[in-house]
Amino acid sequence: MSTDWKSFQPLLIPKIPNLHKIDVYEKNGGYKTLKDILTSKDHTPESVTNTVKAANLRGRGGAGFNAGLKWSFMPKPDGGPRYIAANGDESEPGTFKDRQIFEYNPHQFIEGSIIAGYAMDITAVYVYIRGEYRSWINMFQKAVDDAYAKGYLGKNICNSGFDLDMYVHSGAGAYICGEESSLMESLEGKRGYPRVKPPFPAQKGLWGRPTTINNIETLANVPLIMKNGSEWYTSIGAKTHPGPVLYGISGHVNKPGVYEYPTGMLISDLINEVCGGMRGGKKVKAVIPGGSSTPPLRGDQLDGVRMDADSLREAGSMMGTAGMVIMDEDTDMVDVLWRISHFYHHESCGQCTPCRDGTGFLEKTLIKIKNGEGETRDLDLLLDLCTQIEGRTICALADAAAWPVRYTITRFREDFEKRVKKSAFALA
Ligand SMILES: Cc1cc2nc3c(=O)[nH]c(=O)nc-3n(C[C@H](O)[C@H](O)[C@H](O)COP(=O)(O)O)c2cc1C
Ligand code: SF4
Repeated sequence: MSTDWKSFQPLLIPKIPNLHKIDVYEKNGGYKTLKDILTSKDHTPESVTNTVKAANLRGRGGAGFNAGLKWSFMPKPDGGPRYIAANGDESEPGTFKDRQIFEYNPHQFIEGSIIAGYAMDITAVYVYIRGEYRSWINMFQKAVDDAYAKGYLGKNICNSGFDLDMYVHSGAGAYICGEESSLMESLEGKRGYPRVKPPFPAQKGLWGRPTTINNIETLANVPLIMKNGSEWYTSIGAKTHPGPVLYGISGHVNKPGVYEYPTGMLISDLINEVCGGMRGGKKVKAVIPGGSSTPPLRGDQLDGVRMDADSLREAGSMMGTAGMVIMDEDTDMVDVLWRISHFYHHESCGQCTPCRDGTGFLEKTLIKIKNGEGETRDLDLLLDLCTQIEGRTICALADAAAWPVRYTITRFREDFEKRVKKSAFALA
């Protein structure tokens, strides 16, 4: 990691009082990058896309795809409407970082969305926000209203001839509506069923028109890149996964919270230095690095592991949303896994049999084990079920349900063996 994290100054949520107010944002240089882009001949939609691509801004919504590359998949404008769907559904357990942007720096996200809109010749940005975030929806709507009032949204933005609208849309409590294609179905007023791909959203998205879906934090990075250049951006954090990131850290640490640091932080530094160590001086038993769908790592697997895509892949997990759940030595991984499986079973939309029935079987079997009625062969049955589920469904919710089961059982088998042995003993 090339940036010294201890001297790092937050870029996504800078420590500036009242930055959520448009006047304060403007006084601190806000919307200047947008104005420069829209009014200078040095910038074209292609040059903006290429700069974001060269910055290797990787999506912060889970999959880590290069944002500029994704934008370049949009077909050439044909005069019809084109959309961005900005994803603030944020429903994955362990993930609670986009709401900090809505609360503390909404205009940087709005500015990033308008720049992205210019790069892809977008007509309207739909900002889809988790329904339970009622106060954040209200706060964000105020920021959108202020941006309209100042001429950054609507017709002829900054007298450049570019028009763009932004609409705030509230979800209704379904995790599946964070999946990009069901998010679009939901925006269209339909039931949130994921779509079969292809066609991909760039070809056929909202109302059949070209659409790009990006996470809120992803778009909040765009003004930074356009202001400072791609080389500056790639010098922050991990080489292959650069930039600032919001680490949402929960669990058995002394100071849980959302912390902004460069990518590539050592997990041990995040726990011990940033979060003040483990509660009660306990040992780390497990770390979920990026939301509940990412495979948990054992405490004794963490040496030298960093929070970036390559380091986590090598360690056997994923960066996901950087929503980290830290668990101490007293944690029962059977209980943890049952809780996670209950969530995925509850949230399955029910279109695909391996997901609808598979998540139900996973949960049922885990309840059996949790209640002391499981047998050793149930553990193998669970792993076999995962194989029957993974990669066989319309969307990735089913994989997200199977991975924690596979890796919690293989990495924390002793916790499960204890439960099934106990039940075998009790039955005998
Ligand atoms: C079940 C499921 C739920 C998801 N929920 C979210 C979410 O709440 N927010 C989000 O940004 N991405 C979520 N995603 C990922 C999106 O489908 C999509 O990849 C992402 O919004 C793209 O943005 P990015 O490239 O900027 O990361 C989810 C994916 C799945 C399969
Ligand atoms: S994998 Fe699950 S959530 Fe996704 S479409 Fe199929 S049934 Fe629905």
